[in-house]
Amino acid sequence: MRIAMIGTGYVGLVSGACFADFGHHVTCVDKDLKKIDALKRGEIPFFEPGLLDLVHSNVEQGRLFFSGTLYEAVRAADVVFLAVGTPSRRGDGHAVLSYIYEAVRETAAAVDGFTVVVTKSTVPVGTGDEIARILNDERPDADVVVAANPEFLREGAAIYDFKHPDRIVIGTDNERAKQVLADVYRPLYLNQAPIFYTSRRTAELIKYAANGFLATKISFINEIADLCEEVGADVQDVARGIGLDNRIGSKFLHAGPGFGGSCFPKDIRALIKTAQDFDVDLRILEAVAAGNETRKRAMARKVAAMLPGGLRGKSVGVLGLTFKPNTSDMREAPSLALITALQDMGAAVRAYDPAGMDEAQGHLQNVTLCDNAYACADGADAIVIATEWEQFRALDLERLRDVMASPVIVDLRNVYRLEDMRRYGFHYASVGRAPVRFANLSEEQLEELISGSELAVKDPT
Ligand SMILES: NC(=O)c1ccc[n+]([C@@H]2O[C@H](COP(=O)([O-])OP(=O)(O)OC[C@H]3O[C@@H](n4cnc5c(N)ncnc54)[C@H](O)[C@@H]3O)[C@@H](O)[C@H]2O)c1
Repeated sequence: MRIAMIGTGYVGLVSGACFADFGHHVTCVDKDLKKIDALKRGEIPFFEPGLLDLVHSNVEQGRLFFSGTLYEAVRAADVVFLAVGTPSRRGDGHAVLSYIYEAVRETAAAVDGFTVVVTKSTVPVGTGDEIARILNDERPDADVVVAANPEFLREGAAIYDFKHPDRIVIGTDNERAKQVLADVYRPLYLNQAPIFYTSRRTAELIKYAANGFLATKISFINEIADLCEEVGADVQDVARGIGLDNRIGSKFLHAGPGFGGSCFPKDIRALIKTAQDFDVDLRILEAVAAGNETRKRAMARKVAAMLPGGLRGKSVGVLGLTFKPNTSDMREAPSLALITALQDMGAAVRAYDPAGMDEAQGHLQNVTLCDNAYACADGADAIVIATEWEQFRALDLERLRDVMASPVIVDLRNVYRLEDMRRYGFHYASVGRAPVRFANLSEEQLEELISGSELAVKDPT
């Protein structure tokens, strides 16, 4: 199969490289020429585990190509995947579809022979109809079918997810298109990944409904976490206790600072907007979206509550900036709202992320960027674990405590056990669990300790 992948971002590059790895001939196209030049030099524009090797090996074996223009690639293609961005429109939250339609118009000018044009981007219901209309208007002679094939990969585990999907959703009623896409996905099908054929509109909605449901699960456990803190229950045990029920399942029940990333927030906004256009209220998702936004800033108040006297004049180190581990993606990362709120409350912020430092520079102002976790903690009155990178799970707690101005940790990902925090003498808050207040100090003693000098509390009991 000859494939043209239009848009070489996270989804386009991962999908293109994986399709090439299946044995297809793939050209990844992007109008960002810097990106294409970097890819041609063998550089990957973002961090994704395993992607560098996958791209290199498929380029070397002559199956994966990069281009700044789509004409040749589309002309030769059996299948054209659209993997351009569909960000939120400022102001109302609708999905921006101009990148899709621009790519479709260019595609229309180039198609030759029977071609399946497939949306891999997340697009609102009815976008496929509009794409078909544009193609038909611009090239009534063309033998083209439009199908939907939403992508469910997760950043940070993108290659694994692409190669081991729970399902492949293909939205088309056209038998020829079904056959072509079955051929494209044959290696996965042979691996038992179910292909689920449905109508184009249904496929478009499946993607939004999936993200909406997952975000709802996260928001649900976050609210339960807030209740746990008030009633003295442990959210991790609650999550386990409900997750063991097969009807509920254990995934996406990790309480934290609220969801972010390139998909959930924008897709929920877009789904709500689509529903409103059809006079349908999605009240659950409206609550999810609103609650998630306020939650990110509320995490700064959690930090303030751990420092007597509040945040003014304090130094706070933030560990983890990307919206999740194993990616360099900072889009709508909870750390951004958290850091702004910390600064608004008067704190000086230091930060470190294992892969997101370059990305972060474009998003953050007046933040001291550090080279590692200990440099970030150096002189800090508190550190906040905002993203659960593996390396933050096994910090040298003694070293950390010794470099800090006061031993305060706010763990927004619940990566540490309460007993460890107790043992190492930390004043520790997490999400949905009782805080650890070391040494049973009074507020006055605590204040003295935190604003004072001698802070190495070796024996918290
Ligand atoms: N990132 C994810 O984890 C993920 C997962 C599933 C689905 N999606 C969806 O996939 C789509 C792409 O997401 P992404 O994260 O890969 O976006 P991205 O911003 O990383 O990449 C999009 C790329 O498209 C390019 N582009 C835009 N218009 C173009 C045109 N006319 N011709 C050629 N290139 C063009 C841009 O330059 C950019 O490189 C979105 O709809 C997103 O919602 C993303």
